[in-house]
Amino acid sequence: MTSPLAISFVPADLDAIAGLTGKLTVFVTAEKGMDPLGRRVNRLCKGALKRLVESERFSKAKEGDGITLSWPLGMSAVAVQVIKLEKRTSDLTARKAGTAISLFKGTDAITVLAGSHAKAAQIAYGLALRTYDFNLYKTSEAAQTPQQPASVMVTKPEEVSAEATDGAAVAEGVFFTRDLVNEPANVLTTTDFAARLAAMQEIGLDVTILEEAELEKLGMRALLGVGQGSEAPSKVVVMKWNGGGDEAPFALVGKGVVFDTGGISLKPAGGMEDMTMDMGGAGVVSGVMRALALRKAKANVVGVVGLVENMPDGKAQRPGDVVKSMKGDTIEVINTDAEGRLVLADVLWYTQEEFKPTGMINLATLTGAIIIGLGHHNAGVFSNNDGLADAFLSAAKAEDEGAWRMPMGPDYDKQIESKIADIRNAAGREAGSVTAAQFLGRFVKSDMPWIHLDIAGVASLKTPSTYAPKGATGWGVRALDRLIRDKYEG
Ligand code: BES
Ligand code: MN
Ligand code: ZN
Repeated sequence: MTSPLAISFVPADLDAIAGLTGKLTVFVTAEKGMDPLGRRVNRLCKGALKRLVESERFSKAKEGDGITLSWPLGMSAVAVQVIKLEKRTSDLTARKAGTAISLFKGTDAITVLAGSHAKAAQIAYGLALRTYDFNLYKTSEAAQTPQQPASVMVTKPEEVSAEATDGAAVAEGVFFTRDLVNEPANVLTTTDFAARLAAMQEIGLDVTILEEAELEKLGMRALLGVGQGSEAPSKVVVMKWNGGGDEAPFALVGKGVVFDTGGISLKPAGGMEDMTMDMGGAGVVSGVMRALALRKAKANVVGVVGLVENMPDGKAQRPGDVVKSMKGDTIEVINTDAEGRLVLADVLWYTQEEFKPTGMINLATLTGAIIIGLGHHNAGVFSNNDGLADAFLSAAKAEDEGAWRMPMGPDYDKQIESKIADIRNAAGREAGSVTAAQFLGRFVKSDMPWIHLDIAGVASLKTPSTYAPKGATGWGVRALDRLIRDKYEG
């Protein structure tokens, strides 16, 4: 687990640097002029830093590469590790340089010797994102000990902190998402999930929990059918952030299946444990709402998540059952494992009816087929609106979160026709992610700008990635925060 941003800025202290006996990691730009602190550290090590920065080795190194000065004269440190930044480095490359976790192993102190306050803030942002650690259930002391320093030394900590506040808010949103996704399903029940969201009232979100009786009254039989085989009560949680006056909100909707056994269409045992992450869509929506509240975004956004558990049981829904959605359309349940779209059908409809949003984005770990199509590098982007889709794609690109537009269209509807109901929930293997999106599209009003993000391949990974250790990534929190910032805040 993590604390807010987990990285703080401390005043650089030359005496402390001189007295370090381990490793010092410094970030410097390729430009010749180091800042005053850089010049002092350079003097401390008898000019070695300057000679390194002016060397061919340094000029040939790539941004983010580390070069080690071993046993520098004039210092007690065993090494000074120099990480290169380009002269006019972008925010994103500075952030990326901060993710070089392998370079931080064994480092006792990290400092930024050249570059603007904003760049130093970006380095710390990258460092925080990548060094997040979910160690709640590891009992050894070693697992509790961070592998790298939790602070960055800079000349002007206050100025750098000021530049870092928005990033810190977003990082905390990312960590909230990751914690939710990493939690096992015996801990993160629908009730526990809802309680964690309700606790966000403290940071100014307006949170409402709809219980089963209310969902029943609203006619959400598609959602309730999924949860009826579980001891855990189904819930819909609404989180509102009103930072933008009285205009209509933008809506985020998430699939929150706290565990997906497949139901009566039971999944095979191998790998089933991974289905603790099937609430990833709801996790991202919750993380974005947290980030918006923490940075006091000037926009109105409503986040709505459907929380259910998909279990086999005497009371569970059967293949062949027909359920009536809140919209009124009937659905033939061909496969109880295609449950996410049943949950979203009702939550999407409810969100449009209740909040009349200006646009809507839903996130869901919806199909295994999107992993076959795009692997783990890109989420699938399905949309009825080119303007909104392009805005999202450029926000995702700016945040270095992989996203790839996928097709939609009536040609795919034939596959979801039902013999006895208005529509069926499973359509065979061909274009499995597209037919799932077409299904969702049936519950989106025709004039509603909408995106469906299939995040089954990106929500949680078996290996570390640039910005995250293995496990939950928090994919999408940064892109959605930026989309809201760019499109809806002045
Ligand atoms: N939660 C799964 C999709 C999933 C698969 C997420 C792998 C993450 C990793 C979803 O509910 C599901 O089971 N989808 C089925 C749909 C099929 C029955 C039409 C699938 O993808 O196989
Ligand atoms: Mn399923
Ligand atoms: Zn699922």
